[in-house]
Parts: sequence; C-alpha cells; structure tokens
Amino acid sequence: MFPSKANKLILRLGLLFKRWHGDVGMGKRSTGSGSSRLVLGIETSCDDTGAAVVSETGAILGESLHSQKEVHLRTGGIVPIVAQQLHREHIERVVQEALERSGLDPRQLSAVATTVKPGLGLSLGVGLEFSRSFVRRHRTPFIPIHHMEAHALTVRLLQPVSFPFLVLLVSGGHSLLAVARSVDDFLLLGHTLDEAPGETLDKVARRLSLAKHPRCSTLSGGQGIELLAQDGDRLRFPFKTPMGQTYDCCFSFAGLRTQVNMTIEKKEAEEGIERGTLLSCVNDLAAATQHAVACHLAKRTHRAILFCKENRLLPSLEPTLVLSGGVASNQYIRKALGIIAEATGLRLLCPPAKFCTDNGVMIAWNGVERLKEGKGILSPDADVSYEPKAPLGIDLTSRVKAAAIRVPSIRMKIS
Ligand code: KG4
Ligand code: ZN
Repeated sequence: MFPSKANKLILRLGLLFKRWHGDVGMGKRSTGSGSSRLVLGIETSCDDTGAAVVSETGAILGESLHSQKEVHLRTGGIVPIVAQQLHREHIERVVQEALERSGLDPRQLSAVATTVKPGLGLSLGVGLEFSRSFVRRHRTPFIPIHHMEAHALTVRLLQPVSFPFLVLLVSGGHSLLAVARSVDDFLLLGHTLDEAPGETLDKVARRLSLAKHPRCSTLSGGQGIELLAQDGDRLRFPFKTPMGQTYDCCFSFAGLRTQVNMTIEKKEAEEGIERGTLLSCVNDLAAATQHAVACHLAKRTHRAILFCKENRLLPSLEPTLVLSGGVASNQYIRKALGIIAEATGLRLLCPPAKFCTDNGVMIAWNGVERLKEGKGILSPDADVSYEPKAPLGIDLTSRVKAAAIRVPSIRMKIS
C-alpha cells in the first residue's frame, strides 16, 4: 500500500507529464486518462490536526499530523477553545506539508475530503472553514466526511475487506458497534450510554496522577494505563464488568469509573497519602481497570456477533470483525477481542496503532471511497456546516435489546 520511492517518483513524473484538463465534472477532475484520482483529506474533529493525500489505489503520497496531546496533558483534558486556537495555528502548515510531501499541486487533486461531524464544534469549524476557502480557491470538489465512518473504513485502505463487516470503534469520544454495509450504509447495534472508554481511561489516569509518573508523563491516559498494567496484578481489584444484567450491545463506563475512584480513595486513606500523590498499587489499579474495560467491550461485541449471526447480517464466508479507534491501539483489548473472534469464528482485523488514532489519511481514504462510489461529492461552492453530534447509520439498538441474547461465558485469560 505504501508506495516505494521508485513508484512515488514514477507517479509524480506521470502526473507532471499529463496535461491538466481543468474542471471536467464532479469527481472526474483528473490529471489525465488512466491516472489514479487523488484526494486531500483534512481532519480537525478533536485534538489532532491531520492532512494527507491518498490516491484512488490507496497509496499514501504525503501526510502530516500535528498532535495537541502535550498541551492537553498539561491542562488535564481538552479545552475546546485551546484546541480551536491550536488547529488555527497549525492547519495551513499541516496541509502544506502533506501537499509538498506528495509533490502535487492543489490543481491536481480530484477532491478535498474534510471531517465535518461528529466532534468538537470549535475544532470542526477550523477544518471546515479552511477547506471551504481551499476548494473555492482551487475549484476542487468537496466531500464532507463522518469521522466514525472514516475510522470504520480505514482498514480497507490497508487490506482487502469486503462489505458487510462488523466494526467496534473505541476512542476518547466514542464507543460503538456497527455493521458496515457500504461506504454510506451502517447499522448501529450499540453505542455508549454515558462516556467513551478512552475518556474513562483518561479520567482514571488523571485521578491516579499518572502525569507525575516518570514512565507516563508524555503518554495519553490510555497509553499510561496500558504501560503500567503490564506490571500489575488485575486480580487484586476485581471490578465488576458493567451492565451484566442488560442484554443489549450498548456500553456504559461511568459506573466502572466510580468503582475505580472509590477504590483509589480507600487506598489513599489506607496509605495515608493525599489526592494527587502516586499510589503504591498504581500498577494493579491500572491492570484491573484495563481488564474491566476489555471484558465489557468483549462481552458486548460477543452479543453483537451472535445478533449478526441470528439475523444473517454477516457473510458466512470469512465474517470479519474490525477493531479501530484510539483505544484499539491497546494490545490487551486486542487480545480480549481476539478471544471472542476466535470463539465465534470471525476474523479479527485491527489497523496498526497509527491508523487507529485520528489522522488525515483515514479522512482522505474515506474521500476516495466516496469518490469511487460517486457518493456525497459536492461542488466547491456548496454550503456545508459542521455537526458536533451525528449518529452513525440506522439505529438497531432497540431491536438488539429486544432480542435479549444471552452470551455464553468465555474465560478471558489474557497474557
Ligand atoms: O481516536 P482517538 O485518537 O481520538 C478520538 O477520541 O477520536 O482516540 C484517543 C483516545 C484517548 O482517550 C487515549 O487515551 C486512547 O484513545 N488511547 C488508548 C491507547 N492509546 C490511545 N487507550 C488505551 N490504550 C492505548 N494504548
Ligand atoms: Zn477518532
């Protein structure tokens, strides 16, 4: 998928020698017959400013990413106005870098694809405003992108995966289970009722003061918990897996966080230390929290697989479960989902960590998928607004709940 230096050079030369035809219609703007169409993707839905140029064949020609992680770690969470300001400061450079690395001129782009939903309004606004002025200036078709659809389809850039497939998306802002049936057709089986798993891990990490831990100071909450959990004993704190008596595929993490917070308070009292000081049992708490999150995700996914089987929503040949989103970088969670996939006969696919977290490549690729299907391609003058809240697909959560599928118990022995 990644072009070798030689291939990249050939592609660039090809583009140079092809005559520029100007505007040749929506989605058909091209550098000449036979050449791969090219999409610039722009991502600013949360705290990453990302841009990338991806070809129709899936070659990543140039990319750039600016992460705001360090700033938000210092402030103890994302402050939307700060995120907006940082996007404003970096977006021009990030897009310029992606284009320069691709060796392309903006006029050679077939479309610009930009995340417009869901996300932080102030952050989305920066990407959208920049993109609108870019496409008007260069007369490029515009493709608005749903951030979660982009996460779900990234895997298809990396390897052949046909529709339909089941996808579990877990990040700092979302957790959902859906069947992807085409580029713009999703069935929603479950979503979080309160907070997302990444948010829970980030909040637990803050409560544990992991920023003061020498091994975690530069890591996101989820990364810190994963690292410390490697040396922890998860059995020391047997947190209850959430929603054991609710037989649907929705998620809830707020109750788990309360359990963890109460234990932290108790341990602080026992050790006679103040809030904000590192506990001696921090590794065990990290391991137990991570295990409870993994088990909850695994159980709901198990039920979603059984629901899909009962309703013939997945193909009998090579049914696939895709795991993506920032939290999917977690190896322990991957293993938990691996156990479920194996027990139910599904193939589990997880993009590498760099494609699980937010980036411009996934947005550009979603643009490519839409361009190929001719779906959602707008004129450069189209009036588009951003949507902080945007559900994914057709909501089947009530049907899933009504089915009340009991999940056989599976031993979660994760090394
Ligand atoms: O997808 P993402 O980059 O941004 C959105 O939230 O959309 O995900 C970021 C989230 C953060 O909550 C972070 O703590 C979590 O993903 N995360 C992890 C790991 N790496 C990032 N959680 C658990 N284990 C990890 N290794
Ligand atoms: Zn994301």
